[in-house]
Order: sequence, then C-alpha cells, then structure tokens
Amino acid sequence: MKTWSLNFRLWHWINATIILGLLGTVFLRKTFLSWRTNSELLTQKLSEINLEVTEAQAKVLAKAIRAPMWEWHILLGYALVALLLWRSILFFTQSGKQNYQNCKAESFHKKIVKVGYIALYAILAFMAISGLVIHFYEELGLLKDTAHDIKEIHELVFNAVLIFVPLHIMGVIISENRGEKDIISDMINGGRKE
Ligand code: HEM
Ligand code: HEM
Repeated sequence: MKTWSLNFRLWHWINATIILGLLGTVFLRKTFLSWRTNSELLTQKLSEINLEVTEAQAKVLAKAIRAPMWEWHILLGYALVALLLWRSILFFTQSGKQNYQNCKAESFHKKIVKVGYIALYAILAFMAISGLVIHFYEELGLLKDTAHDIKEIHELVFNAVLIFVPLHIMGVIISENRGEKDIISDMINGGRKE
C-alpha cells in the first residue's frame, strides 16, 4: 500500500501551489503594486509631462493598476475554500488520518509537528472564512467598518501562514537529510508502507 494516496498527493501539491500563489498576491500588493508607492510615482511622472493630479486622483489610478492582480487573490481564495473541503473529506481516508493516529508512541518533536499541521488547518479555515466575509460583507449586511476590522485580523493571521511555509519546507528538507530518507519523494511518488 502507498503511504500517500494519489488523491492526497494531488491535494498536497495543489494546496501548496495555491497557498504560494496567495502569498504571491500579498507580496505584489505590498511591493511592486503598492498603491502608496505607485501613486507617488504616477504624481511625479505625470507632473514631468505637465499633468497635475491630486493625491486622491493618483490613489484611484494606482488602485486601478493593482486591481486585476488582486482579483487573483479572490480567485485563489475560492480555490483554497474548495481545497479545505477536499482536505476534510480526505480525513476519512487512511492517507488523510495516518499522521493523527497513535500519536502517543511518537517522539515529542513529531507530536509538535503534528500539532503544527492541525494549527495550520485551523488557521487556513480562519483565513478562508474571514476572506469570504470581507469579500461579501455587503451581501452579509455588515458595515464597512466591521469588514475593515475583520480584514485587520485576516492580515494579522496571514503572518502565521507566512511563518509556516518556510518552516515546513526547511523541516522536511532537514528530515530528508536525517533518518527520514524519502520523506519528500514519498509525497511525490506515494512511497510504500513497510
Ligand atoms: C514546496 C515545498 C513543499 C514540500 C517539499 C513539502 C513536503 C511535504 C512532505 C514531505 C510532507 C509529509 C510530512 C510528514 O509526513 O509529516 C508534507 C505534509 C504537509 N504539507 Fe507540505 N511541502 C511543501 C509545501 C507545502 C505548502 C506550501 C503547504 C501549505 C501551507 C504545505 C502543507 C502541508 C501540510 C498541511 C502537510 C500535512 C499533511 C497531513 O495532514 O498529514 N506543504 N509536505
Ligand atoms: C492563506 C490564505 C490567505 C492569505 C495568506 C491572505 C492574506 C491576505 C492579506 C495579507 C490581506 C491584507 C492585504 C493588505 O491590506 O495589504 C488580505 C486581504 C484580503 N483577503 Fe486574503 N488571504 C488569504 C485567503 C483569502 C481568502 C480565502 C479570501 C476570500 C475568498 C480572501 C479575501 C481577501 C479580501 C477580500 C481582502 C481585502 C482586500 C481589500 O481590502 O481590498 N483572502 N488577505
């Protein structure tokens, strides 16, 4: 029997791609497509060709440039919602539950890793629900201020995802080099249970 079913491996790698994509959209929003930086750039470049714009107008322009990129945050966000539903179903399969069974016999380190995965699932569920609530706040009858407060928490919790990703990648690379040979290739080819 394979350690990881094809179903689970597909979930893992699609999930990894979508999360990296979501982090990518946040990176662009905060750097190359930041409205603050770009509105200043637009004001300066337009004034060089004798076009004066107010601060408010420059902000509208900069946000319009950012908008098509940010649509991807929402699209990838919907994909994350679907992936979490997919993962919930996988919990009823051997591959999906094996990491969380017979934990008493595991080392302290392994227990921490597993608690880390469970915490990540909870964090991703929070990101998905809060993201949907911010996006549909009008339909849900919420005030703009409330949506803004939820966005602040969504943005704060984002840091936990940002910390998990490099820790996880470093963790599996270190494990691959110390005793847990094939941990990474098992997630690619399914591995084999002894
Ligand atoms: C791109 C490099 C990545 C590599 C090489 C990698 C590799 C692995 C490996 C080898 C495992 C199995 C570990 C074990 O048996 O405990 C695993 C599990 C897992 N990975 Fe990744 N991963 C990567 C990216 C990601 C990303 C970006 C995420 C999402 C944030 C992610 C989420 C998970 C989760 C939640 C599990 C636990 C699965 C379970 O519930 O049993 N991985 N990964
Ligand atoms: C791992 C998952 C996610 C991460 C790491 C993430 C990260 C972030 C961050 C950091 C912000 C604040 C951006 C800023 O103001 O500079 C943000 C805003 C937002 N996110 Fe997410 N997000 C995730 C999932 C989702 C999902 C699932 C949805 C909905 C489908 C969503 C919808 C939104 C919306 C509507 C905003 C507000 C944008 C605005 O104020 O114009 N996010 N997200």
